[in-house]
Amino acid sequence: MTVGADQFRDLLRCFAAGVTLVTTRDGDRVHGLTVSAFASVSAEPPLVAVIINRGHAVHPLLAAPGAPFAVNVLAADQAALSERFAFGPEGERFAAGDWTTAKTGAPVLSDAVAWLDCRVEDRHPAGTHVIYVGRVEDGAVPRSESPPLIYWNRGYHTVDPVEPR
Ligand SMILES: Cc1cc2nc3c(=O)[nH]c(=O)nc-3n(C[C@H](O)[C@H](O)[C@H](O)COP(=O)(O)O)c2cc1C
Repeated sequence: MTVGADQFRDLLRCFAAGVTLVTTRDGDRVHGLTVSAFASVSAEPPLVAVIINRGHAVHPLLAAPGAPFAVNVLAADQAALSERFAFGPEGERFAAGDWTTAKTGAPVLSDAVAWLDCRVEDRHPAGTHVIYVGRVEDGAVPRSESPPLIYWNRGYHTVDPVEPR
């Protein structure tokens, strides 16, 4: 027995996730896409994971050993950037936002809640997707007080504090 794709999506839409822009560079070419499948893996060594559909355009840029990529954690007021990097034409994605270059060469968003500058350490094909494990070489928290952008139940949200008891 296994669940069908529709049931799978219905189950997974219950899980809230932050929204990031995963960005990379190969020479003069920059590329980025919206990714909510981002996870902390390990603090020592510092490893994170992003999970990207095999059909997406970014894979050739992440193919080289140690290929650079950044994970830019979006704030609640940056939903338009999430839409741009999910649905906008490739050539126009970086036309909005204040971009600088991290140590690896990956583009980073100056006013992200946080960004992590990484190099690909490992890749694991998994179904329709590839899990990229990145070693974090640098990072910053430009807007620690800004509430994050959350994707839940097929829409954008942000967070409210709750009392545990
Ligand atoms: C909120 C949101 C979260 C997304 N998360 C992911 C994700 O985790 N992995 C993924 O492969 N695509 C994800 N996508 C879809 C890609 O951002 C989108 O298909 C993008 O256009 C792919 O890049 P490409 O057009 O350069 O191939 C997400 C889209 C949205 C709107």
